[in-house]
Amino acid sequence: MAIRTLEEKFIHDLADIYDAEHRFLEAQQEMVQNTTSPQLKAMIQDHIAQTQQQIGNLELIYSQLGSNPQRVKCDAATGLVIEGQKGIEESKGNPAVCDCMIAGSAAKVEHYEVASYRSLIMAAEGMGQSQITTLLRQNLRQEEQTAQMVEQSTPLLLQQAMRFQERGR
Ligand SMILES: [Fe+2]
Repeated sequence: MAIRTLEEKFIHDLADIYDAEHRFLEAQQEMVQNTTSPQLKAMIQDHIAQTQQQIGNLELIYSQLGSNPQRVKCDAATGLVIEGQKGIEESKGNPAVCDCMIAGSAAKVEHYEVASYRSLIMAAEGMGQSQITTLLRQNLRQEEQTAQMVEQSTPLLLQQAMRFQERGR
């Protein structure tokens, strides 16, 4: 579909993140099943609940706009999810490495979402949509916090993988 105006661009970007959130919700459920680190598992589980709230916020935005929620296939999210699945599959033989792989995939997903929400917020502000901006900011804050938590957990996961590797030598 041709995008001719900034409003149409906003609707497109909204449908894109709405689709991406659904894909990431499923992917996180898969990640949890393959995570052995209790901290990482708890973090992803918390974020699954947040992602469900975020989908709810996006649906509120659609109702503010007077339209039905609409998913437009997000190729970037699809790609990130496939990469994550491949990573899990290929590192399954070493659970500690698999945890590092999952943390890396989760960080990439969160940064993609952060960039998406920041751009949507700028557009919503430009259109003078303050209630929509508030809802988008709630989602952004959760994504930023999750990205930070995942990154902060990574050094420990790397140490655990390193210890596991040294024991195997
Ligand atoms: Fe997220």
